[in-house]
Amino acid sequence: MSDLGQFEHHIGGEWVAPAAGEYFESTNPATGAALYTAARGDAADVSRAVRAARTAFEDPRWRDLSQTRRGHLLRRLGDLVGEHAEELARMETQDNGKLLREMRGQLTTLPEYYWYYAGLADKIQGDVIPTSDRRVLNYTTREPLGVVGAITPWNSPLTLTTSKLAPALCAGNTVVIKPSEYTSATVLKLAELVLEAGFPPGAVNVVTGFGPEAGQALVDHPDLAKISFTGSTGTGARIAASTAARFIGSTLELGGKSPNIVFEDADVANASMGVVAGIFAAAGQTCIAGSRVFAHRSVYDELLERVTERARSIRIGDPLQDSTELGPLAFADQRDKVAGYVDIGRSEGARVLTGGRPTDGGLGGFFYEPTVLVDVDNSMRVVREEIFGPVAAVMPFDSEEEVVRLANDTEYGLAAGVWTSDLSRAHRMASRLEAGTIWVNTYRAMSPMSPRQGFKNSGVGVEHGTETIREYTRLKSVWINTSQEPVADPFVMRS
Ligand code: NAI
Ligand code: MG
Repeated sequence: MSDLGQFEHHIGGEWVAPAAGEYFESTNPATGAALYTAARGDAADVSRAVRAARTAFEDPRWRDLSQTRRGHLLRRLGDLVGEHAEELARMETQDNGKLLREMRGQLTTLPEYYWYYAGLADKIQGDVIPTSDRRVLNYTTREPLGVVGAITPWNSPLTLTTSKLAPALCAGNTVVIKPSEYTSATVLKLAELVLEAGFPPGAVNVVTGFGPEAGQALVDHPDLAKISFTGSTGTGARIAASTAARFIGSTLELGGKSPNIVFEDADVANASMGVVAGIFAAAGQTCIAGSRVFAHRSVYDELLERVTERARSIRIGDPLQDSTELGPLAFADQRDKVAGYVDIGRSEGARVLTGGRPTDGGLGGFFYEPTVLVDVDNSMRVVREEIFGPVAAVMPFDSEEEVVRLANDTEYGLAAGVWTSDLSRAHRMASRLEAGTIWVNTYRAMSPMSPRQGFKNSGVGVEHGTETIREYTRLKSVWINTSQEPVADPFVMRS
């Protein structure tokens, strides 16, 4: 049957069977074979996890732990993730089809996320505020929120979970994670490492299951202090509505349709590799995919030729093999979604220059050929909507003014790429593009140190950097009257 066996929830430091006794299957998308079963969580399981997290939040072993020692636990967790890198990378590759090569790379930097927030844990501090009355000491503190819910997608399960988990713990919260139903395994393994690192039981809990069941129950749980979510814009909107009605915060990292812009003064050979990196890496299953490619008319043909030629030579196959360049989509429905979009493109008048067909990769898996679409424009669905697959829409432009307008004509604003050798133009474009991350002469770069935010329908709130700590703390302002004088006129406001 399955390679990895059966997983239970991880709640309060223990493996816990689902209350309803039901399980679901996760497949290996490279072969279509069953990989493991995981607990199908419901509201009862979520309640149990939130209770465990709340108990841990109030436990003196966590609440009274010094910030430096809290950081030390994060450092140990980072070390453990590093020690288990190969195992985690293989597990994730089998679960979502991402190249083992890329997973090894991600797992090399993943410990750094924990180390970064380990170092930050004892630098979360407030201010002393000079109010107009010198006899008053007014200071601010930043307190943890309580139980944070983290809901994550399948494209980079460990990395995207870590972007939430590390700062949430750094700030002294406890966490309930609901990983994607397509990729639960590595996040469950991570929960074990959290315990091994020395975090108290219940500091981190994992409830697996489906979005409308376990996910929705977590979002709607009354004891939750915050939700941090990465996934589709549609689900993000539902979460935002639910959290807004209860006045709790949410950090949302949502979809994208990012422009990757090649100017006439760019190194076109290099830029074409940047275009390939933007849309064909991870089979295009990244929120930051550079799915709209704009090339200046004078380099349009050359860029198209280079990108198309590279796309044709991309080696499709087993993601565990070092030589493979394109793995499968993460599950059959995602492959069908991508195929459906290319068909929509065709019916809208787009021309498929290369690719455009699903394939089983010779393995029985859910692959889709690297695809280049031309004769497309901003009115078409394939240019407006997030496909989340290896499909590039390439369009020419004539002027900087025009491409700024075209690039910004989208509901999304996650990232943008610019390829140019003109320094002034690089800065002009960085300023004028409506996206939270701008890459110039590079693409798909990420660091725990660098904050990022989605503009427009791509999200709310900041992830990474010191900035994200605000999202996981609440500010308290304390006024201490140091004077001995009796309260003056009680009917006027003091300052
Ligand atoms: P999704 O947004 O439905 O799923 C993401 C996570 O949210 C999963 O853990 C899921 O179980 C959970 N979820 C789903 N419905 C929920 C609900 N009502 N309440 C609480 N949690 C819920 O995305 P899905 O279905 O996996 O992918 C659909 C499309 O979303 C993709 O084709 C892609 O276009 C986009 N997407 C974007 C991502 C990004 O990084 N921006 C990541 C994953 C998907
Ligand atoms: Mg899977």
